[in-house]
Amino acid sequence: MPAKTEEFTAFTERAIAEIDRHLNQLLTLPHPTNASLYEAARYSLFSGGKRLRPLLTLATAEALAIPIDHVLQPACALELIHTYSMIHDDLPCMDDDDFRRGKPTLHRLYPEGHAVLAGDFLLTYAFEVLATSPFLNNEQRARLVVCLAQAAGGQGMVGGQALDLQATQQTVDASYLKAMHRAKTAALFGAALEMGAIAAAVSDKITNQLRQVGLQLGLAFQILDDILDVEASEAKHGKAVGSDAVNKKNTYVSLFGLDVAKDRAKQLIDLTLNDLAQATSHFCGNSAPLHALIAQLHYLPLNQ
Ligand code: IPE
Ligand code: IPE
Ligand code: MG
Ligand code: MG
Ligand code: MG
Repeated sequence: MPAKTEEFTAFTERAIAEIDRHLNQLLTLPHPTNASLYEAARYSLFSGGKRLRPLLTLATAEALAIPIDHVLQPACALELIHTYSMIHDDLPCMDDDDFRRGKPTLHRLYPEGHAVLAGDFLLTYAFEVLATSPFLNNEQRARLVVCLAQAAGGQGMVGGQALDLQATQQTVDASYLKAMHRAKTAALFGAALEMGAIAAAVSDKITNQLRQVGLQLGLAFQILDDILDVEASEAKHGKAVGSDAVNKKNTYVSLFGLDVAKDRAKQLIDLTLNDLAQATSHFCGNSAPLHALIAQLHYLPLNQ
């Protein structure tokens, strides 16, 4: 893996610190009655996620020359949705996984119903957080709510998870797999960039271009995740290796094999970087962190 530039390292360190600080504030226990619900939500929220989606939103803001403070709350709403999706994805009725980020999954620590409710809490709260985002006007807030609802809902993450579950134990074709990856994973990546564009009030054309960049990146990311499920080392991966095969899941690797999956992930990341370079060529902000964030994914499976 090439050395990261000092500028990129400084950007990500600062951005992650801001994201963590803001999430911490958002999840401060308001009243002791609900302590265990907040504790459960906080356990998953602060268990070592890479914060990739909110980082993409902050890097998009940087590229569009708006202060990252203006997208911090929407970025955190996206991370709340991602965290809820992971809690539910690991449940026994879904992927039945015992470990995530090197720690027991939430339903291994709390009763299963409590884990379901912690996910529900994060999902619901995400929209309150989004709708009360500071620095933005009401039209922007409304657009953000629609953007995240579509990316997380029936046409997005939840819809994709349904396609994933329906296809378990049977073999699907390439177009089904792509639709499933597009919905369950890429939609939230598309929203990550689109939310930055909405906050910066750029044209519909640029907003759409950025969403497409995010969608393509999300397709690459799910292929990388499918690769890691096969060949990562468990200690570094933090979740069970081989879970997809045990569950008879359709993945890019199960359909096409490891070599084709690696080639395709690389190709999609290169395409994404090209499209991003075109989209950002007229931007007045600093698009280097966004490029670097995406480019580093090239090395993800080789690092584990
Ligand atoms: C894992 O996402 C789930 C997928 C959509 C593939 P991440 O790899 O971004 O999860 P964390 O938050 O960093 O653990
Ligand atoms: C992604 O799929 C899950 C969501 C989009 C919620 P996976 O089931 O492959 O994710 P991991 O491997 O458990 O993180
Ligand atoms: Mg899953
Ligand atoms: Mg899973
Ligand atoms: Mg996976």
